Amino acid sequence: MIEPFYKSEDKNFYLLKGDTFDLLESFEHKFDMVFADPPYFLSNDGLTFQNGKITSVNKGSWDKSEGFEYVNEFNRKWLSLIRKKMKENATIWISGTMHNIFSIGQLLTELDFKILNIITWEKTNPPPNFSCKSFTHSTEHIIWARKNEKVSHYFNYELMKKLNDNKQMKDVWKLPAIASWEKSCGKHPTQKPLSLLTRIILASTKPNAWILDPFAGSSTTGIAANLANRRFLGIDKEEEFLRISKNRKLEIENIEAIAIYQKKIAGFIDKQQFTEYLKTENIQQESKVALGFCRKKDIDNLKNLNKFYFHAIENQNVVKDFPVGLVDAKRLLIYSTARAKPIVLTGYSAIIKDVTLKHKSKIEGKQNSKTEFYYEVVLEEPFTKNDQLEFQIDTKKLFTDKEDKNKKLLAQFLPALTTLNRLMDSKIVVNEDKI
Ligand SMILES: C[S@@+](CC[C@H](N)C(=O)[O-])C[C@H]1O[C@@H](n2cnc3c(N)ncnc32)[C@H](O)[C@@H]1O
Repeated sequence: MIEPFYKSEDKNFYLLKGDTFDLLESFEHKFDMVFADPPYFLSNDGLTFQNGKITSVNKGSWDKSEGFEYVNEFNRKWLSLIRKKMKENATIWISGTMHNIFSIGQLLTELDFKILNIITWEKTNPPPNFSCKSFTHSTEHIIWARKNEKVSHYFNYELMKKLNDNKQMKDVWKLPAIASWEKSCGKHPTQKPLSLLTRIILASTKPNAWILDPFAGSSTTGIAANLANRRFLGIDKEEEFLRISKNRKLEIENIEAIAIYQKKIAGFIDKQQFTEYLKTENIQQESKVALGFCRKKDIDNLKNLNKFYFHAIENQNVVKDFPVGLVDAKRLLIYSTARAKPIVLTGYSAIIKDVTLKHKSKIEGKQNSKTEFYYEVVLEEPFTKNDQLEFQIDTKKLFTDKEDKNKKLLAQFLPALTTLNRLMDSKIVVNEDKI
């Protein structure tokens, strides 16, 4: 494992120093969401107005374009690498202007992402157009896409509606450009405002989610992530920007500073709304357990296997999140029984390392299956049988009333998802360590 440039004490904020193209290949973790603010390649020696002064548009050598092919190749390379770092149900947000956004949009489609929205961020205080030969540039675009066309993603529809006076939130966001209090730890030439990143994070992630930013700069993504109880890994090649990032994290290490920051972020109806909302989110999310079914005669073949396949049922060309929320599960338990109750779990269990959606043609032994797609669950360690785990479960206690879909699935001897606490509560005579 590579040595981080900085790792916060609470282990929620990591910074890696180096070229994102090398670093993305050097670790294994998969993320729930990615925000990328890549070079826009607009440093063409032009001029603009800033704080009443004429200044160069140049941002740094990292933002110089060497032509259309170069920009396309750069984008193709990082987007291909980042895809491998995303969970199956993860989404990615990429910001840009006319200089790079068309290239990004085309490549997302080429690389099998599914574009969900193109957000127009309308800046409330844009600089005037120096040339006077076209309209004032007052917007940036942010493409939101999911990794997999077939696997659904998370969207906090209700919260976004609430932030918009109880009307569906549109894809045009009026938010101010960066405020001076956000630059207390030093200046980054293209720093994004916390209000923008906070909205993005709350719209598309749950508490504790892991968020990746491959072009972190001053780590606005990480600061917004931590202020909202999410976790962050950022990459940048410039030490100067990583130092700003680290200091920004140190600044929000005490509770009072966090509260002050949360109040200052724009885009909420009042100064308390962000903090109040966070209280309602379930910070201690329960550890999810996936239940998988295996035919009785095959069950002993699980021993020493480090993979398990779930049928991924398609409906109108979209794979259902099936078993419900599998990609969020931490553990896998395999049961086998006849169509009689109570269900007997066999005691095969393992911690999940990774879940990937795969076409049958890519899976040995499944090429002739009637099922087109499978979820391949890779385990941290191969299954082992633990006889002490032989137990019966009261299915009534496995799910809440809201989880009817899960109940029905289990009743039909199909995979389902529950939580560790509920499993413990359903007459299971083992303790957590043994599962
Ligand atoms: C547009 S800025 C990101 C600004 C950031 N969103 C913020 O709020 O501060 C892009 C960043 O990418 C970094 N960068 C560009 N190419 C890179 C590469 N190949 N590897 C790592 N970092 C890179 C630059 O140093 C720059 O800080």
